[in-house]
Amino acid sequence: MIKVLFVCLGNICRSPLAEAIFKAEVKKRGMEHLLQMDSAGTAGYHIGDAPDPRSYRNALQNGISIDHRGRQFQFNDFQDFDYILAMDQSNLRHITQMAKQQGIEHSNIYLMRSFQVDPDSQEVPDPYYGGHQGFQEVFDILSDANRRFLAYLKGQHQW
Ligand code: 4NP
Repeated sequence: MIKVLFVCLGNICRSPLAEAIFKAEVKKRGMEHLLQMDSAGTAGYHIGDAPDPRSYRNALQNGISIDHRGRQFQFNDFQDFDYILAMDQSNLRHITQMAKQQGIEHSNIYLMRSFQVDPDSQEVPDPYYGGHQGFQEVFDILSDANRRFLAYLKGQHQW
């Protein structure tokens, strides 16, 4: 079983959506026995919180139901997850600094968008302070990045 953790800042907008889209893609392909997923935030502002209602609503409009409560990224996650995917450079820096602090080596920490072909940016933009358009843009980015990531995993693990 390969375990994947999606990480953003608050764990109420981007990473729970990434997790839900990935879960749906994995289910569609009948790969549930191979993969498990979760999400977390580098900040602790929204521990125990439901997803942002705007993110939740936009996901539903795209046929995806998000089922997650906010939690903060913790040191154990380095051990518990095979792949850690950060939504932006700031999240990535935070995670790699935590690893460094503890002398932890983890060989599979990536930017989510590094799996896309020629992305126009390395960042999944934070839609928290934006309007509805921002949420659909994030949805589209995450759908493409997740499909590419799944294809990458297939190659890596000979599935
Ligand atoms: P997320 O968005 O990192 O995609 O979940 C945010 C959610 C909450 C906050 C910032 C970003 N906040 O400052 O509370």
